[in-house]
Amino acid sequence: MSKKILITGGAGFIGSHVVRLFVNNYPNYQIFNLDALTYAGNLENLTDVESSANYTFLKGDITDEDYIKSIFETHQFDNVIHLAAESHVDRSITDPLAFAKTNILGTMILLNAFKNLWQDNWQDKLFYHVSTDEVYGTLGETGLFTESTSYDPNSPYSASKASSDHFVRAYGETYGLPYVISNCSNNYGANQFPEKLIPLFINNIINNKSLPVYGDGKYTRDWLYVLDHAIAIDLVFHKGKNEETYNIGGFNEWQNIDLIKLLCVQMDKKLGRKEGESEKLITYVKDRPGHDLRYAIDASKINKELGWRPSVTFEQGLSKTIDWYLSNIEWMERIVSGAYEDYYQNQYTK
Ligand code: NAD
Ligand code: TYD
Repeated sequence: MSKKILITGGAGFIGSHVVRLFVNNYPNYQIFNLDALTYAGNLENLTDVESSANYTFLKGDITDEDYIKSIFETHQFDNVIHLAAESHVDRSITDPLAFAKTNILGTMILLNAFKNLWQDNWQDKLFYHVSTDEVYGTLGETGLFTESTSYDPNSPYSASKASSDHFVRAYGETYGLPYVISNCSNNYGANQFPEKLIPLFINNIINNKSLPVYGDGKYTRDWLYVLDHAIAIDLVFHKGKNEETYNIGGFNEWQNIDLIKLLCVQMDKKLGRKEGESEKLITYVKDRPGHDLRYAIDASKINKELGWRPSVTFEQGLSKTIDWYLSNIEWMERIVSGAYEDYYQNQYTK
């Protein structure tokens, strides 16, 4: 069946993998990638699909109400897969208002445009909101986040995502807008902006720079390979039940310090360095304020209902990820230097 799908944030890390998967797997769908190209958006992530017949890039900001209204009227999107967001916890601590604006107001503007376009004519329509496990707050030493865990966000990032989830559900309850939400654990893989733990540390190891471990390094995250997240999004989009939430996780908990040591071992091997060389770069630094101790997802619902589970082990996924960064050193260098921002100018405005 043919559909017009708006994917927001498609030039970012996870969004670019979702756009590629949909453009390649569903030639009957028309995929519109809407992205403001903030510091985190990089069209170089999508050069392999940019000339596909079923792909269109739209440069725009989800907080620009008139613009969003106009593109919904022009293109009549049947479905929205909403990933655009400010996504880095550390940035949310220094600039919380930017997170409220994009993550809360931006989501509401999209919901409103979708509601106003289709009114009550909801057949085959869907608003898919991509969210995070951080909305549930922090776990102690034991337990897992399920879909019924109460929201208890601790950072401005997670509070803004929690709020956006509530608005999506409110539009469902109040206006009958069809929606699904998924809350996923920490992703890693190719094309992740090097401010997040894994790509930052890969880049620092390559360049013999110190590895800044927050606090005692005993914080725990549940890591998922980004392609497995994209596959889960495809499944939830096509088979998820209206008004349901799906938790997505890697069944893969690591304390930061253990993960960093594994990364150092793999990097030493791949760079042909002496064993233990990269570990010497580890430096304990001041902790992040409000740092959540532990996240871990119970992904049994998506496993049982939709048959999803991660396809790679962490060791395999991490190895593939390091290989990608080592073969794409230029991608990293262009980000670190800011040169990637010229790509849009050259590609779209000349
Ligand atoms: P990212 O920061 O890599 O990408 C975000 C994208 O959104 C960028 O391309 C950016 O240009 C775009 N964007 C930001 N503000 C915008 C605006 N106002 N208008 C239009 N576009 C805008 O983020 P990511 O890590 O790919 O995360 C994508 C989504 O998945 C987010 O909603 C995030 O909350 C969620 N998520 C991320 C993770 C993770 O580990 N990275 C885990 C679970 C959920
Ligand atoms: P991050 O990749 O920022 O994801 P999130 O905060 O959304 O979980 O961080 C992952 C973990 O790594 C988190 O516990 C914070 C820690 N961390 C460091 O110890 N040092 C760093 O430089 C960064 C960026 C993160």
